[in-house]
Amino acid sequence: MAWGAPARAQSSRVQALYDLCRRTFPSPSSAASPPAPPPASAVRAISSLMDTISPADVGLRDDSLGDGGGGHGFFDSTFVKGAARASRWAQPITYLHVYECDAFSIGIFCLPTSAVIPLHDHPGMTVLSKILYGSMHVKSYDWVEPTVLASNRQVKLAKLHADDVLTAPCPTTVLYPQSGGNLHSFTSVASCAVLDVLAPPYAEDAGRICTYFNDYPFSSFSSGRAKTVDSPDNYAWIEAINSPVYINMRPGMYTGPTVQVSPNFTCCIPLYQSWSLLKKMRLRFPGPPIITDEPRSIKQCVRAARHQYSSSKFQCSVVDVP
Ligand SMILES: [Fe+2]
Repeated sequence: MAWGAPARAQSSRVQALYDLCRRTFPSPSSAASPPAPPPASAVRAISSLMDTISPADVGLRDDSLGDGGGGHGFFDSTFVKGAARASRWAQPITYLHVYECDAFSIGIFCLPTSAVIPLHDHPGMTVLSKILYGSMHVKSYDWVEPTVLASNRQVKLAKLHADDVLTAPCPTTVLYPQSGGNLHSFTSVASCAVLDVLAPPYAEDAGRICTYFNDYPFSSFSSGRAKTVDSPDNYAWIEAINSPVYINMRPGMYTGPTVQVSPNFTCCIPLYQSWSLLKKMRLRFPGPPIITDEPRSIKQCVRAARHQYSSSKFQCSVVDVP
């Protein structure tokens, strides 16, 4: 395969992914904070679209046959020759930035063989991950609720969600703020690339900070209060790492189709025109859009818009659901 697909701004799958994310994920500034996870139907739609995305769709070649580095769309030929001579351990993880706003981000992590992204969390976030090529070991946990602390150490109990090797092609995985494996680590078994959608992205001022952790077997500590578990192997004690964590990661150049950011709609409808109509429509505000098919969510949208525009009427736009 050559160096990737030519840019097709309007018709690319990346553009379709951006458009769908834009319709799905509300901006934290125009919705309740922190934003609630999107409806399951919307997540399924994004997952289905991501399932169809190939390395070529994002400007990568299928690099599953080796660690040449050329698949990252980052290295020039001189660097590639040098990298080929270098030890494999020296190769960095490469992050390719595709798009980011305050509602969501799209990016790609390219991992050489044996690279590790340590155990970390996604506080308040929904994350969709699609392995584009290669193979990786994924280990993930969710916090046990209510919180269970160990009696003699600052560690919290978590339940194992996944401990599997995933090999492309495989379905998109989804994690939520409190389920689906919100804490996870990646270890590449073979050179791989992962397309990630984060909604919302990390934001320090909003309290969405990435924390790294160590995990210990359940037998390592005793609980501060009575806690029985169905299978000790399915639980672990998780300890936040307070010192800086070094990850050999660097930004790369995304060479796939450029995302064309959607302009605001200009079609106007009066508020309260038709709830039954609105229920079946995608509703957009002059700010980042919201997709919903639930009256309750629409009311939340209206409240947010009222707050934003300080008016009982506001300009928004609607698009028929296909
Ligand atoms: Fe992650």
